[in-house]
Parts: sequence; C-alpha cells; structure tokens
Amino acid sequence: MSHASSKQQPTTVASLLKKKAAGERISMVTCYDSAFGRIVEASPVDMVLVGDSLGNVLLGYDSTIPVTMDDMIHHTAAVTRVVKRPFVAVDMPFLTYTNCDDAIKNAGRLIQEGGAHGVKLEGGAAICPQVRALVAAGIPVIGHLGLTPQSVHALSGYKVQAKEQEAQIKLAADARALQDAGAFCIVLEMIPASVAQVVTKGLSVPTIGIGAGVACDGQVLVMHDLLGFDTTFNPKFLKKYANLNKIIGDALEAYDREVKTGVFPDPEHSFGD
Ligand code: KIV
Repeated sequence: MSHASSKQQPTTVASLLKKKAAGERISMVTCYDSAFGRIVEASPVDMVLVGDSLGNVLLGYDSTIPVTMDDMIHHTAAVTRVVKRPFVAVDMPFLTYTNCDDAIKNAGRLIQEGGAHGVKLEGGAAICPQVRALVAAGIPVIGHLGLTPQSVHALSGYKVQAKEQEAQIKLAADARALQDAGAFCIVLEMIPASVAQVVTKGLSVPTIGIGAGVACDGQVLVMHDLLGFDTTFNPKFLKKYANLNKIIGDALEAYDREVKTGVFPDPEHSFGD
C-alpha cells in the first residue's frame, strides 16, 4: 500500500534548498532497517536519517558513543536497499571525523558501502574544515547543533542548550560557519524555540528541529519514539503518534494465549494432505 503520490519526485539537496526558499516545511524521520524503510518509502516523508540513535533504540546502549562505523554501514545498507525516494542521511559515529582524512575516508564508506546520500556531523565552527573537505569531495553534509548527543559527557547530560545569551550567539555563529563551509542543512536539537527561529531566519539552508520549536524549516523525530515503543521515554519535545508498545504487547499476549490453549494454528493456518 502506498500512502505517497506515485508522482512524488526523489528528495535531493536541490529540492530541499528549494523548499527552504519557498517556505515549504520538511519532514524527516529516523530509520534503521528495511522493514521500517519500506513503510517510509511508501509515505510522503521527505528525508530519512540513519541516526546513531540506533545505539540507544536498537542496540541497547545508553548513549550513541559506542556506535561503530560497521554498525552504521550495516544499518544504512539495509535502509538504502528499499528507500529510494526520500533523501537518506547517515550519522558519522563518535570520533570518526576528528580530522579531514578520517572524515573523508569514513564518510566515503557510508556513501559507497552504505548507499547513503549524505552524512551528518555534530559540531560547529570547530568541524568546518572537515565539512569543507567533505563538500569538496562531493559528499552532501548536514550539520547538527544544540544538544549534540555524542558530547553528552561534556554537556553533563541531555539538557536544553543555548539558554544563555553567550551560548545563543555562539550557536548562531556556528550555524553560519557550517552554512559557509557548505553544509546544505542543519539539525537544531533541544534549544529554545525563539533561538531556533532567529537562527533559521538568518540562514539560506534549511534547519531541521528536534525540540527546537515550530519555526525550524523542518522537523525530525526518532521513528520508535514517535510510534510509542518505549513507555518510559517521554521528553517534553516528543509527540507520540501511535502506541505500538501496547499494540505489540497485546498481540504477543493473544499469540501466547492461543498457542498455549491450542487455538493456533487452526485449520486455516495449517496445510492439508
Ligand atoms: O541520531 C539521531 O537520531 C539524531 C536525531 C535525533 C537528530 O541525531
């Protein structure tokens, strides 16, 4: 079943910049495998992020820090086997872009082996040399400012960022530096809505917010969060569009009951002679 118009064109860097210029909003969702990838492909969502949040969501880590290049390539390849229309961006894992050579080598693997269309890096002016090198090598780059989860220890936890004026000025300067270095899009995570609004207005590239208010050019949420997998994860910015925890739990209970009472498999689900 397709929820998207069959005429929908693939999302590209050019079409995303056009959306910004036209004031059209952009939707992005994380995706880590082909099962969800097929559903996203059939939806109208513009962009997919193979986020290193897969460390928390799929692999059971308590941060994104342990996630490796091999983890990201494995999951990105699963997504890009089926996702063809949305733009597929992939997170570069912790410490895989500390210099330009590493950034190009590792981003190159994510594009060549994973099939991604672009990469996302956390950080501002400090990583602009890497952004410039990647863009010069023909790799589209998304920046990520505000709460940058790979720096969770340096930031002393998952907290709203840029609350003070000094940090707000730095964030705006970082965003401009990323744009000037060639980033075509910038994720803004967990910052005051008013700060995201000012930053968004000052850029010609789109901002994609998560916990950054409605003035961003687009929004991103973690797939499993918006579908309500985890009843214990309820940050203020998260809106749950489904309660899959309950739907899956109820289905498993029914299955268990029918197996144990001999109701399943019935003749309809059994082979005759
Ligand atoms: O890893 C991720 O899923 C992300 C988004 C939350 C922006 O970086």
